[in-house]
Amino acid sequence: MDISSDPNADILSHDTYTQGVPHAAFKRLRDSSGLTWLPEPDGAGFWAVTRYEDVLTVSKNPQIFSSAKGIRLEDMTAEETEARRTMMELDPPQHTAYRRLVGAPFSRREVLAYEDAVRLLAREVIDGVAGQSEFDFVQLIARALPMRMLGSLLGVSDKDGHWLVEKGDALIGNADPEFTQHVVDLVDTDEYRLMPFRSPAGLELFKYAGEQAADRRQNPKADLITRLLEPKMDGEPLSDHEFKNFFTLLVAAGNDTTRYTMAAGLEALIQNPAQLEALRQNPNLMDDAVEEILRWGSVTMHFRRTAIQDSEVAGTRVKAGDKVIMYYISADYDEREFINPYQFDIGRTPNNHVAFGLKSPHKCLGEHLARLEIKVLFEELLPRVSSVVQIGQIERLRSNFISGIKHLPIRVKWL
Ligand code: HEM
Repeated sequence: MDISSDPNADILSHDTYTQGVPHAAFKRLRDSSGLTWLPEPDGAGFWAVTRYEDVLTVSKNPQIFSSAKGIRLEDMTAEETEARRTMMELDPPQHTAYRRLVGAPFSRREVLAYEDAVRLLAREVIDGVAGQSEFDFVQLIARALPMRMLGSLLGVSDKDGHWLVEKGDALIGNADPEFTQHVVDLVDTDEYRLMPFRSPAGLELFKYAGEQAADRRQNPKADLITRLLEPKMDGEPLSDHEFKNFFTLLVAAGNDTTRYTMAAGLEALIQNPAQLEALRQNPNLMDDAVEEILRWGSVTMHFRRTAIQDSEVAGTRVKAGDKVIMYYISADYDEREFINPYQFDIGRTPNNHVAFGLKSPHKCLGEHLARLEIKVLFEELLPRVSSVVQIGQIERLRSNFISGIKHLPIRVKWL
């Protein structure tokens, strides 16, 4: 990877990321001492945490670094925070209780039981494009699989999948004009400030989730929505408002992230043909390859905490009230943890990346599902093609939060 980008690039600007991740700027921050205080044009400023070890220190200490005031750069009023609160904005012990409530269907054991279903869906999606030799991998393959899979787990109709993908895009892509007219930093979104991602799509998803909940209360089914609404032995089930927020969180968190990781993976394999070939020849390399794809993509680039006690990280005094941003995208390329981090290496071991968060109570709930989908997609795709090349420019999401390849035009020779 070429990291000769601008070491002084503005890591806050959404526009910066349309040109790719500003790796040189993150490297400069990692190499400066302690944490770096960065001013914000419309906020109080924050500590940028860019080294691997320091990201772990912050993420594993929720009693000092709280999620309750928000988990992205954006500052919210108390009213906005309350209305938009999901499990991501809870600290222990409330977070622990919530996670117990929703965790079981996402456990490794339960997710592995979905493997056949994921495989069937992956084949269906690939069969759907197998007649075409030139197409956009993201639009036709990577975009379809995660939402259809999540939809089938939730128990929503497959025909709603496309609509849900659009709404998920509008939330996660809330700074990108391709995905929303309500671009969060360019137009007035005050009307939607109580909605997830300040987006009208949040309102539509809430309505949809409410209808689904009402339906399952009348007609329980063998699906995730019914399970989430069931009375629990050891606690209250989710309230209506909590359910709507959780449903919206799943559509936002479980959809684009997996898609963009798949896209980052295929792009990296195309750029590294020897590794692509090795993977085609030896599918046993797939599990390690998926971990490297996750590290390489590090699709959720940052998460925020707010200090609720005075403390010290990397020799820097952090005061109660300070905003602290953990740059996972930087930690995953920290040369103190990873040898040759800018080299994509499907054999990399150890590979303790932070793409899902690590040693954090908030470690990604969907990690096993995401891993399974990525693995199955490449296991199904690679044996079907004899060659795959990129045939045009990739286009990237305008976002300082999600690193996403929106379009990846490829030419494929089908076997
Ligand atoms: C490759 C794809 C994915 C990536 C890179 C990713 C990344 C992450 C990260 C970094 C966190 C931690 C947030 C924090 O530190 O505050 C997280 C949390 C979460 N993720 Fe994922 N995620 C992915 C896929 C999924 C999927 C498929 C689902 C659901 C089906 C999902 C649902 C969630 C939920 C609900 C949380 C909140 C967990 C909590 O607060 O305890 N994610 N994800």
